[in-house]
Amino acid sequence: MSRKTYRIAVIPGDGTGPEVVAEGLKVLKAAASKFSFSLKTEMFDWGGKRYLDTGVVLPENAVETLKKFDAVFLGAIGHPDVKPGILEKGILLKLRFELDQYINLRPVKLYPGVETPLAGKTPEDIDYVVVRENTGGLYSGVGGISMKGTKDEVAVQSMVYNRTQVERCLRYAFELANRRHSGKSPWRGLDKKDIAAGKTAKLTLCGKTNVLTYVFDLWERAFHEIAVEYPQVKTDYCHVDATCMWMVKNPDWFDVIVTENMFGDIITDLGAITQGGMGIAAGGNINPNGVSMFEPIGGSAPKYTGKGIINPLAAIASAAMMLDFLGEKKAAASIEKSVMFVTGNKLKSMAAGKMGYSTSETGDLVIENLK
Ligand code: IPM
Ligand code: MN
Repeated sequence: MSRKTYRIAVIPGDGTGPEVVAEGLKVLKAAASKFSFSLKTEMFDWGGKRYLDTGVVLPENAVETLKKFDAVFLGAIGHPDVKPGILEKGILLKLRFELDQYINLRPVKLYPGVETPLAGKTPEDIDYVVVRENTGGLYSGVGGISMKGTKDEVAVQSMVYNRTQVERCLRYAFELANRRHSGKSPWRGLDKKDIAAGKTAKLTLCGKTNVLTYVFDLWERAFHEIAVEYPQVKTDYCHVDATCMWMVKNPDWFDVIVTENMFGDIITDLGAITQGGMGIAAGGNINPNGVSMFEPIGGSAPKYTGKGIINPLAAIASAAMMLDFLGEKKAAASIEKSVMFVTGNKLKSMAAGKMGYSTSETGDLVIENLK
């Protein structure tokens, strides 16, 4: 049988992006040889440096080029010398939108040995996934500013959603909740013990139906309509402000949370810190029918750049997510297990410079413990 070959576009990006991407690639290559598949990678130097050198944020054919790959692996986008918004909108958001990666999947999972700021909480308590809508809402760019610079200037930025965007996101979340229930999800979800104890999959819609009475009316109606097709998934609703409170006080209440784009952006930073911070939080921008892009959710961390002290585990965990989506389930699970071994037995802390190991030593530890 010939080995399967996956074509991966790699965008190391800015700051510590290249350092963590190098570790992710190192682990991917080790997993490929262990699990008998091949990776063909191609590097793209898009990011702040290239923009400052050439004035080009993203080459014109970038999206078409990426469409030819099986997946994209991205480090970080953001440069201290570039005005906020240019690279974020011009690269990251543009790729998410134009590749129609309509789901931003962010597991919030406390690994063994990782310190959480939530007093008394253990890995048993913190294990859920946030499904963030990734193409619409306040990010759609609808709005403008008029009479700029005058005392009467007006700025508008609208939360925009159409039925299709809402439905496809909700459907994805219901499917994911279902898969977690049957143990077919890469993120722990329910195990046999939970199911024996009568726990069921649960999907929580996070919104603001008490104020945003147009947008969340649409979300809420669609949510209940689709729920009928998934009788085995329990449904729940939580306002976004209360969601933040429960994520801190009772994270074990959550299984899968589905929410609109900006709310998802905000609550996943909160989720990330409860799972040990940006050094460990992985994510994927998913187009279930197209090219998906996997990235650690932390930024470019300019102050740690080039020192070899940044934690690569978030990038490594994102690489594992990528393999899972490509269909290499065993390799993905093996990387995740190894990451859990390393957090549980090796690293002193998840924070840059405090791990007790360098960036590349941490990558080596994951490889040594791949089983
Ligand atoms: C994220 C980031 C981005 C977002 C920024 C950099 C545009 O915060 O991936 O969460 O808002 O989505
Ligand atoms: Mn964010």
